[in-house]
Amino acid sequence: MSTFDKTILVTGGAGFIGSHVIRLFVNKYPHYKIVNGDALTYAGNLENLKDVEHQPNYAFAKVDITDEVAVKALFNHYHFDAVIHLAAESHVDRSILDPLAFVKTNVLGTAILLNACRKHWDGNHEGKLFYHVSTDEVYGSLGETGFFTEETPYDPHSPYSASKAASDHFVMAYHDTYGLPVVMSNCSNNYGSHHFPEKLIPLMINNIKNNKPLPVYGKGENVRDWLFVEDHARAIDVIFHKGRLGQSYNVGGFNEWKNIDLVHLLCNIMDKKLGRAAGESAKLITYVKDRAGHDLRYAIDATKLNKELGWSPSLQFEEGLEKTVEWYLNNEEWINHVTSGDYQNYYDVQYEKR
Ligand code: NAD
Ligand code: DAU
Repeated sequence: MSTFDKTILVTGGAGFIGSHVIRLFVNKYPHYKIVNGDALTYAGNLENLKDVEHQPNYAFAKVDITDEVAVKALFNHYHFDAVIHLAAESHVDRSILDPLAFVKTNVLGTAILLNACRKHWDGNHEGKLFYHVSTDEVYGSLGETGFFTEETPYDPHSPYSASKAASDHFVMAYHDTYGLPVVMSNCSNNYGSHHFPEKLIPLMINNIKNNKPLPVYGKGENVRDWLFVEDHARAIDVIFHKGRLGQSYNVGGFNEWKNIDLVHLLCNIMDKKLGRAAGESAKLITYVKDRAGHDLRYAIDATKLNKELGWSPSLQFEEGLEKTVEWYLNNEEWINHVTSGDYQNYYDVQYEKR
C-alpha cells in the first residue's frame, strides 16, 4: 500500500516549465508522490531538479511517451491517480526544420498517454485527472487589438502549434467519448530560470554575455505576452486542484512586449549587470530573415482563471527579468552544459543563413 495520498505522473518534468512544476509540487505536497516521466531529449535536463532529487516523494523514470509499451509498464508500476502532461517538442523554429518530430511526440505521444489513462483507470474515474498543458499558439495570431479567450476558434499556423492544437482536440475527444476526467490550460510565453537558450529571452541573454549578434527576426514588431514561469506553475497547481472537468483555462501575464523593445530592455539590464557603457549591448542587435509563418501578436485574456479560481500573476515583468538575468549570470555551469554539443549544430543550421 502506498503511503501517499496521490501518485502523479508529470511528463516532461526535466524541461523548463516541467521542472518548475515538479519543484512546486514536491515541496508543497509531501503527501503526493511525484514521478517525473521524461525521455531526456536535448531539452530535458536533470540538473534542473538537483534541489529536489533526493526528496522522498520524488522519483524519476526515463520514458518516451511515444513508446506505448513503456508507458503501459510505467502505469502498471505506479498506478497513477493523475497525469500532468507537459512533455512536448516545444520550439517553433525546430518544428519548421523537422515537423514530423512534433507530430510524433505532441500528437501521438499525447494520444498514447490518454489511452494509457483510459485503459488503466477502466471507467473508475473517482479522484483521477488528466491535466494537459497547452499553449496560446493554438489560437493563431491577433492583429493590433483583441485578446484570446477560451472561445477563440483554433487557427494554428506552425507545425508546433498545429501539433499542440491536435493534442488539445484529442484530450477533449477522450473526455467527450470516454468520459475521461480532463482539464487543460493554454498559456502565453513563459520566461525564467532553466529556460533552454533556443528561445528568445535566454538566447539573447547568452549572446549579450558572449558579445555575439542578437538575431531579431523580421522587423522585431511581433508581440508576445510574457509570464514568469513560477506564476505558470502556480496556475497549474490551482487548475489541477480546482479546475472544472472538461474545461480549458487561459493563462497569461497581461504583459505584452514587442520583441525589439524586449531585446532593448534586456540589453539595458545586461549593460548594468556587466558594467558595460549604456547602449553597448544594443549595438549587437542584428535584424535577420523572418520566421516563416510568423504569428504577429499573442495576448491572453486570463479573466476566467482569475474570476473562477482566483489566480493572477505575482510579479512585474522588469523584476522577473532582472531575476532571470541574475540566474543566468550566476549559473554559468548550467549554460555551458546545455550549449555544448548539439546546441552549436542547431545554432549553425538555424542562424548561419539568416
Ligand atoms: P521544454 O522543451 O523545455 O521541455 C520539454 C520536456 O519534454 C523535456 O524535458 C523533454 O525531454 C521532454 N520530452 C520531449 N519529448 C518527449 C517524449 N517523447 N517523451 C518524454 N518526454 C519528452 O518545454 P517547455 O517550454 O517546458 O514546455 C512544456 C510544455 O508547456 C509543452 O507542452 C509546451 O507546449 C507547453 N507550453 C510552453 C510554453 C513556453 O513558453 N515555454 C508556453 C505555453 C505552453
Ligand atoms: O506562446 C507560447 C509559446 O511561446 C510556447 O507554446 C512555445 O513552446 C514557446 O517556445 C513560445 O513560442 P514563441 O515562438 O513565441 O517563442 P520564441 O522564444 O521562440 O520566440 C519569441 C519571439 O521572438 C517570436 O516572435 C520569435 C522571436 N525570435 C525568436 C528567436 C529564437 C527572434 O526574433 N529571434 C530569435 O532568435
